[in-house]
Amino acid sequence: MSGFVEKPEPLQVPGLVHLHTGKVRDLYRNEAGDLVMVASDRISAYDWVLPTEIPDKGRVLTQLSLWWFDRLTDLAPNHVISTDLPDGAPAEWAGRTLICRSLRMTPVECVARGYLTGSGLAEYEQTRTVCGLALPEGLVDGSELPAPIFTPATKAAVGDHDENVSYEEVARQVGAETAALLRRTTLDVYGRARDIARDRGIILADTKFEFGFDAEDRLVLADEVLTPDSSRFWPAASWEPGHAQPSYDKQYVRDWLTSSASGWDRASEQPPPELPGEVVDATRAKYLDAYELLTGTRW
Ligand SMILES: Nc1ncnc2c1ncn2[C@@H]1O[C@H](COP(=O)(O)OP(=O)(O)OP(=O)(O)O)[C@@H](O)[C@H]1O
Ligand SMILES: [Mg+2]
Repeated sequence: MSGFVEKPEPLQVPGLVHLHTGKVRDLYRNEAGDLVMVASDRISAYDWVLPTEIPDKGRVLTQLSLWWFDRLTDLAPNHVISTDLPDGAPAEWAGRTLICRSLRMTPVECVARGYLTGSGLAEYEQTRTVCGLALPEGLVDGSELPAPIFTPATKAAVGDHDENVSYEEVARQVGAETAALLRRTTLDVYGRARDIARDRGIILADTKFEFGFDAEDRLVLADEVLTPDSSRFWPAASWEPGHAQPSYDKQYVRDWLTSSASGWDRASEQPPPELPGEVVDATRAKYLDAYELLTGTRW
């Protein structure tokens, strides 16, 4: 079992039709037919949406995505139409709501990796490959790869793992031309973002993009981009391959959940417990740190 401990009731806003409650975002359609994407303060870990929220998280993700979108437009157009709050929307939606073009989404999580860790490392240790791509001997947790690689995954339903797949499998699913476009755009955008982050003392170890096609069949960058939820950011100053790197994300939550302090057994199929105040505060601080370091502005 996994997913929501308790699925939240969608807010009713006149003029908006609720479409979907994702792990983090709530999706609505407005009267113009555009998508209204509201990033909540929900946090997920180990395939569970936790029962405790992280204050301001949704705003941080939204503002950071907007900051990145602005720096990527020459490489990929994005789905944002406006940051205006829809009429009748509650005040707490301010700063966390984007009006976006509704796209035909490709069913691929477009992951770029410049460093080896996580599911990439797990596969490498078994086969010396990641998503079927051969890598040199001798890499360890946190190693920089000889060059960034495209390691796609299929999008899972709430509560399921995304599954790494080969490039050939993506080409079978979306066609060779689209697969090539996804790979090229993913690596181009990763390269730009990695360089920007590096200038600010942050390693962008890996990241996930979602793309869709607009009415004119142009590839458009969608969802959120280059946030702590979709990326691994490591402080460059303390980077040291050979063990897990500290990161600006929910690592603190994951570590607490799997520690004896939480009383939770990940394998038990029982829902995870509420987070204590200090875990909430430390996690919120990590998200804010990521925002402030990358953008160079105070939250
Ligand atoms: N421009 C867009 N057009 C259509 N769908 C989009 C667009 N941008 C993002 N999405 C979709 O909106 C959803 C965002 O919600 P969220 O990130 O909370 O979901 P998730 O947990 O990643 O996945 P799921 O929706 O399966 O729960 C994703 O399903 C994403 O694919
Ligand atoms: Mg998502």
